Amino acid sequence: MYCVRNVTEDLYWVGANDHRLALFENAYPIPRGVSYNSYLLLDEKTALFDTVDFGSCRQLIENMTHVLDGRPLDYLVINHLEPDHAGSIEEVLLRWPKVKIISNEKAFMLMRQFGFHVDTHDQIEVKEGDTFSFGTHTVTFVFAPMVHWPEVMVTFDVTNGVLFSADAFGTFGALDGKLFADEVNFDRDWLDDARRYLTNIVGKYGPHIQLILKKAGTILDKIKYICPLHGPVWRKDLMYFIQKYDTWSRYVPEEKGVLIVYASMYGNTEAAAQALAARLCEKGQTNVAVYDVSSTDVSQLISESFKYSHLVLASVTYNLGIYPKMLNFLMDMKALNVQNRTIALIENGSWACKSGDLMQKFINDELKDMTILNERVSMASSLGTDKVPELDALVNAILESMA
Ligand SMILES: Cc1cc2nc3c(=O)[nH]c(=O)nc-3n(C[C@H](O)[C@H](O)[C@H](O)COP(=O)(O)O)c2cc1C
Ligand SMILES: [Fe+2]
Ligand SMILES: [Fe+2]
Repeated sequence: MYCVRNVTEDLYWVGANDHRLALFENAYPIPRGVSYNSYLLLDEKTALFDTVDFGSCRQLIENMTHVLDGRPLDYLVINHLEPDHAGSIEEVLLRWPKVKIISNEKAFMLMRQFGFHVDTHDQIEVKEGDTFSFGTHTVTFVFAPMVHWPEVMVTFDVTNGVLFSADAFGTFGALDGKLFADEVNFDRDWLDDARRYLTNIVGKYGPHIQLILKKAGTILDKIKYICPLHGPVWRKDLMYFIQKYDTWSRYVPEEKGVLIVYASMYGNTEAAAQALAARLCEKGQTNVAVYDVSSTDVSQLISESFKYSHLVLASVTYNLGIYPKMLNFLMDMKALNVQNRTIALIENGSWACKSGDLMQKFINDELKDMTILNERVSMASSLGTDKVPELDALVNAILESMA
């Protein structure tokens, strides 16, 4: 059965929802699924913008067949070659052998590398700023390297203001019928997944996102729709989401608040983390989130570290090192460029406490623009009541640095 929706009068969403995939990129849990968005334009000529993951290919073909209703597919525009979108190119070429492929030099190279037989088809190689007309619709191509791969471009339809934004402005989460962001409560139900998607997938490439935002800035008043490759289409309140992207890609905290992440084997470090959270709330700072590093996927911790202004890392010492899962979180923060935060440390050790110094060293040596508070809380096995003054000193230091 086909499953399509109109984006505009002559532009159709012909993509697919995937609830079967457990791990996106075989790494990130997606309990709410994901959508692969593909768009079909019926102008004087017909044009498909990107395809879907091969696992959803059959749905794409059914959708396209329904919308084309016997018309040929004239053009296939490829903005991004990652297989979650490009996986069905080969099948589209086989089904519509006369289709002409529009893409850029790097993307054509990748198509050949992935083994798609594009050289038996007409290829139209575009460069930054080139335009192309499908009849009444004229599009222009804008390169967006490293948002998320080097070949990425976005395509802007100057006729109706539709921006095909590739992975930019995408999010985890299947659409399940609701195509537009204004058909869901995005802030309540989608924002966390949007942040987790952006920060983990392209968090490392903040400056590249800034570059594309700058390019978009020159035509902001002309953009009427944002059609990303994952998640809802934006046609209202575009600035809400554009501003979120701006915040995340500049590594500016979204909210004043405290993210507490603890590593604890037997619960004593955990108890210290909870005592700290309660004291912060008691003193009026209730924007506090507490996570167990062992039971929380690191993609969630990364997402939260992009959200909050303050991080507290509480770790046991483990065989003279940082607890491995906490070290993994720290390494992921480095990989994804988390920066510009205030950090407080809590350490625990029963015979040779090292975790505080080691975390401090990692942060100083490997992370950028982090401020570490001096008021470290140090405990031997468990936090005794004699340590209340130290805990209070840390609470006060956090609150003062937030003021
Ligand atoms: C496998 C293992 C290795 C540990 N290695 C060290 C260590 O090298 N140095 C140290 O001071 N404590 C070490 N500890 C003790 C812990 O750092 C911590 O004090 C203890 O687990 C109590 O805290 P918790 O209840 O939060 O787990 C180790 C504990 C375990 C279970
Ligand atoms: Fe991608
Ligand atoms: Fe993607």
